[in-house]
Amino acid sequence: MRRLRGRLIQPFLKEYHLQKTDLVMPLFIDETADRLTPIPAMPCQFRYPPGDIGSAVLRLQEKGIGAVLLFGIPAHKDPGASGSYNPEGVIQEAVRRVKSVAPGILVITDVCACEYTDHGHCGIVGEGLYGMDLQNDPSLELIARIAVSHARAGADFVAPSCMLDGMVSVIRQALDDEGFQETGIMSYSTKFASALYSPFREAADSGFRYGDRSTYQIHPGNFREAVRESEIDALEGADILMVKPGGFYLDLVASIRELGLPVAVYQVSGEYAMIKAAAMNGWIDERNVVMESLICAKRAGADLIITYYAADAAGWLDEEQRLL
Ligand code: PBG
Ligand code: ZN
Repeated sequence: MRRLRGRLIQPFLKEYHLQKTDLVMPLFIDETADRLTPIPAMPCQFRYPPGDIGSAVLRLQEKGIGAVLLFGIPAHKDPGASGSYNPEGVIQEAVRRVKSVAPGILVITDVCACEYTDHGHCGIVGEGLYGMDLQNDPSLELIARIAVSHARAGADFVAPSCMLDGMVSVIRQALDDEGFQETGIMSYSTKFASALYSPFREAADSGFRYGDRSTYQIHPGNFREAVRESEIDALEGADILMVKPGGFYLDLVASIRELGLPVAVYQVSGEYAMIKAAAMNGWIDERNVVMESLICAKRAGADLIITYYAADAAGWLDEEQRLL
C-alpha cells in the first residue's frame, strides 16, 4: 500500500476532489440592519444590510464561488408570514439585486416561513392533537406562494426547508402554473430535527416561541424514514435532494444518491460553530479540519456542499493549486 502513497504518486491517485463548483455559500440579508452585523454564535459570519448584498456577492464571485443560498430577515413578522411573499420583501429585493450585479451567480433561495412568522414556526400554526403545532395542509399554499414570489424575483432554484408533506408537489405545480417551468427545486428533503441549528436560529432570528420542530423534522435515529423523505420528494418532482445536517448524517448520502438525483449536503451552523470555536481556542487546525469535513462529504457522495466555509475553502483551494 505504501508504494501508492509515495509523495509523487499520491496526488494522482486521489479518488475524490473538492472543487469550487461543489460549494454553495449561505448569506443572511437583514432588512432591519443598516450595517454589517456580526452573528455572535457564528464568528466571521454576518447579516448583510440589503444595500450590501450586491458587493458581498461580487466578492464571493471574485473568489470563484458561483452559488449562494439566500435567507431573509424581515422588519415585520406576523402569524401569517405576510412578509415572506411580498414582491418588495427583503429576499425578493435581494434576489433582484444579486441578479443585476452578478447575473452569472446561481441564486438559490431558502423557502420557509419561520423567519417571517412571529411564533417562529415554518408555516401556519393551530391547535393540533397535542397542542399548538404546525398545520401541514394549511401551510402548503403559503409555501407555494413564497416559492413563486422568489421565482418571479429571479431565483434560479427555490429550496423549501419547511419539511411539510407535499411541499414539493405544490411548489412544482404553482411554479408551472405561473410560467416558471425553468425554476428548479432543491428540496431540503432529508432534514433532521437537529440541535445543530441553534446558531442559525440566532442568525436568522427564526427560533420558535413555543414547541419545537420535532413534529415536522426527522428524529436523528431514523434511517429508513430519512431515505423515504427524499424518495417522496423525488417522486413529487424535486430536482436536487438534500441531507441536513452534514457531518453526523453522511451515512444517508450513499443511500439517497441511489435515487438518481443530485444530492446536496448542508454543513449547518452548529457544525460551523463547533469547528470555529475549537479553532479560535487553538485546539484544532481550522483549515485542515474544514477541508477534511468537505472532502468527506464528497466521498460520501455529495454533489453540492452548502457551507459557511465556502469562501474560506475557495481561498484554500487556490493555495493548494499553487503548491502543485
Ligand atoms: C429554516 C432553516 C433552518 C436552517 C436552514 N433553513 C433552521 C431550522 O429548520 O430550524 C438551518 C441552517 C443551519 O443551521 O445552518 N427552516
Ligand atoms: Zn423554517
